[in-house]
Order: sequence, then structure tokens, then C-alpha cells
Amino acid sequence: MTMKKAQDQIIVIFGATGDLTYRKLIPSLYSLHVQGLLPEHYAILGTSLLLYSEDEFRDKMRTGLHQQKQEPNLDLVEEFLSRVFYQYTHANDRASFGGLKEKIQLLQHTQTLPDNIIYYLATPPELYGIIPENLAAQGLQLQGNGWKRLIVEKPFGYDLQSAMELDRVLQKDWEEQQIYRIDHYLGKETVQNVLVTRFSNGIFEPLWNRNYIDRVEITSAENIGVEQRGGYYEQSGALRDMIQNHLLHMVGFIAMEPPASMQSDAIRNETVKVFESIRPIRDEEVQHSVVRGQYLAATIKGQKVKGYREEKGVHPQSKTETYVALKFFIDNWRWGGVPFYIRTGKHLPTRVNEAVIHFKPTPHYLFSRLGSHDSCNQLIIRIQPDEGLLFKIGVKTPGSGFEVQTVNMDFHYSSLAHQRIPEAYERLLLDCMNGDSTLYARVDSVMATWRMLDPIIRAWNTQPGIPVYGYPAGTWGPEQAEVLIGGPDKAWRHPCKNLSDDGIYCEL
Ligand code: BG6
Repeated sequence: MTMKKAQDQIIVIFGATGDLTYRKLIPSLYSLHVQGLLPEHYAILGTSLLLYSEDEFRDKMRTGLHQQKQEPNLDLVEEFLSRVFYQYTHANDRASFGGLKEKIQLLQHTQTLPDNIIYYLATPPELYGIIPENLAAQGLQLQGNGWKRLIVEKPFGYDLQSAMELDRVLQKDWEEQQIYRIDHYLGKETVQNVLVTRFSNGIFEPLWNRNYIDRVEITSAENIGVEQRGGYYEQSGALRDMIQNHLLHMVGFIAMEPPASMQSDAIRNETVKVFESIRPIRDEEVQHSVVRGQYLAATIKGQKVKGYREEKGVHPQSKTETYVALKFFIDNWRWGGVPFYIRTGKHLPTRVNEAVIHFKPTPHYLFSRLGSHDSCNQLIIRIQPDEGLLFKIGVKTPGSGFEVQTVNMDFHYSSLAHQRIPEAYERLLLDCMNGDSTLYARVDSVMATWRMLDPIIRAWNTQPGIPVYGYPAGTWGPEQAEVLIGGPDKAWRHPCKNLSDDGIYCEL
């Protein structure tokens, strides 16, 4: 990865004993350390309400690194861990922030660090307001002698009103330039590659509009359930967990106008215009434009899988959705009349994330039509796990006559020798350390996405007749989602069609 080296600083992680720190943040910081991208002087200060000693905290992080990094370099791990520290802080107890301040000052003194600090909120969302307030009460957000930045995890609010309230609380003490709203999908190389595909290749732009594109489809499927996160998920559901941020940001990149430059605001100005142009779904349309579902107990490859309502932390009559499929339009000159379909779900047959651009058929078809009337031309942007680009075109089937078959032009990132795809958090952490907010969500885009989703949340809360369809774990979600996209030739592209005994057969 070619990236800039950051200035000397301290990274304070709230929620340091939680899963995100252990699985993503510490391993990503370690990777940056190995690549020599961290500053010469830095400290990582984990903090939470658990009474860990520094050694206990380091032991936990060491275990995480050994589990997740294949053959980590033992010396480098120890060198990295010697920069990792721990301090108890109770988010709701303002007095404990005094202890945090003293610890920061001590580290600045002993590790020769300037007053540049990132605060990362890897905590439950209900603490996103109180922690910054308590930091500010100690003056820990002031930028007199160095910069201070605040990374706020998603979801930013639960709906438009709570997002506005959270923003109000933050903006009391923090400037907008200090606030980094993270969406790790924007840190994915393949999501950024949407911009490169569109704007570095002259061949796509002339076709990238309502004249040549029939519809756009985005799928983000996971083959696991909510695991240990039932309590969080009950408050969130798939709409808030995946659509409001990850999937809509993918829509933003696919649908935006070319930015004036690659500067942070130039890009963010264009994505926010997309969100503001999404046609609001009216309350009475919700039932027909949005399908929600919840996974049911099933047996997958001989293994019993719990239904969502049996998961730990989940109410036995919960109506929280673990699946959402949604149809909407972007009312602007480029996209007028082109439907966008997005879907996401837990416990689907496989883990895959991809965007499919369906091009329109030719105006007059010269060849025999054996099957579908839909065009064979699709551009499939594979976000993960098999990162790459797939273009489907028609070619002549050898032999007499003019029979057409669809073939694949297929690029896999894995074919680029010696080019590793970095973890999304590596890129985003380093960007924040360098003060680059391009790949972080600006407040207006967060509000615009909530504005779009608010009618859905309202309708689900107030119209008990809108069903939550059950779907057996391991299937592609409720059948009603097929109706949503349906037409004579239209169906969701099922990237992985069949489950076989020895694994998953993928249809490319
Ligand atoms: C997180 C969601 O933001 O993204 C999780 O909270 C989800 O529920 C995860 O599993 C998916 O991320 P990725 O990078 O594995 O696609």
C-alpha cells in the first residue's frame, strides 16, 4: 500500500475491550506498524470500564494478533505492543475522564509525544454523545497545542431526529472538521475502485446513465447470523446496520457525477447530491417498495442453526429485520426512471457483496432469441470476497447460424501479484491520522440518508400490517423480494446458486 506516514500522535480507543478493537482496530494498527506507516512516536491508549492492568490488556491484544495474523513476526508484535497502554474510564462518569487526562499527559511526557490526539469511539452507539461531552469537560478536544480528532462509529443516530440530536451534542464542543464519521465500506479498496472504474476509463461514462442502463442492483449477503451481537442488533436491524451507511455509500459512488477533483469536499459534495435526489418513499408505498425479513431456524449442511428470535439478547417476539430488500429511484437527469435495487441479509447462503450494472438490450435484436429478453451485458463490481470486475458480453456460438452465448471478461484482484488488499480500517485509520476525511461521511450526507429511510422506519413502527417475512437460514431471503424486482425477465442475480455438499458452487 502506498500511503503517507502520519505525524506523531496518541490514539485513544474507547471500547478497547470490545470486539471491534480486538478484531479490527488493533490488527489494522499493527499492519500499519509493520508497513512502517505509523509515526516515529506514537501511543495507542485503550480505555473502557473494565479494570484491566496494562499487561492484561496487552495480553488480550497479543492473543488477537496471533489469532488473526498468519505467522505474525514475534519481535514486531512485541515492539508494537510496547506502544499500547490501558486506562480505566467509565463513559458516564465525568470524574473518570480526569484520570484519562492525566494518563494522556503522562504518555505525552514519557513517550515524547505532541498534543495530537485521535479519540476513537468503538463503543455502543448510546455513548457517542456522552463521551465527547465528557472529553470536552476536561478540555481534551481543544486544539491549542495540537490537533484533536474524533472518530464516531456507525450507526450515527437511530433515525433522522436522533442523528440531528447527536450532531447537535457533538457540535457544541467539536468543530465539524474534527469529526470523522466512519463507514468502513468506504475504506474498502473495491468500493474506491468504483470511482476508478468510472472515472479513469473513458468507455464507461458515455453509457453510465438512463439511456443505456436498465437497472442497478446491489447485494450484500452474509452467511452468519448476529452471533454475539443480538443486543446491539435488536436496536439496529439490517436497515440501520447495513443500508443507511454501507449500501447507500456504494450507491453514492455508483450514481455520483464526476467530482471536480479528488479533494475530500469535491467527492462528498457529489455523493450528498445523490442522496438528496433519491425520491422519498411515501408511507403508503413502503409495503410495496421495501421487503423485510427475519431468519428462521434451519439445518444447513447438517448443522442446526438458530432462528433470530432464539439468539442471545433477542426478544422472543422480536420484529427486528435481519433482511431488507429495497427499490428506489434517483430523480435526476442521469438516473431518471432507472430503478435501484439493494438488499442485505444475515444467514443467506454465502458471503458476497457486489453491484451489478444491467445494461439495456440493443434496440433491435438481430439474432434468434432462445431465452431471456433481458440484455446479456452486465458489469459486476465484486466488492468481496473475490474482489474484482466481471463484464458479461454476448459472443457467437461456433457453428451454423447465429446463436449468441454470454461469456465473461473477468478480472480478479488476486491475479495482481504481490499486491495485497489492505483491510478497510487500515486505510481509514491512516487517513484520519493524516487529517484526510475524504472517505468519512460528512454530516449532510448522514442526514440525507436518514431523511430517505425515515418514512420506512415510521411506516414499520406505525403500520403493524407490514409483515416481517420469515426465511429459513441459508436461503436467499423472503420470496417477496423476488416480486419486488420482478418483471418478465428480471430477477436478483444469484451469485452463488447452489449449495452442494462440498461447499458452495458459485455462478459467475
Ligand atoms: C458492520 C455491521 O458494519 O458490517 C455488521 O455492523 C456486518 O453487522 C459488517 O456484519 C459487514 O462488514 P464486512 O466488511 O464483513 O462486509
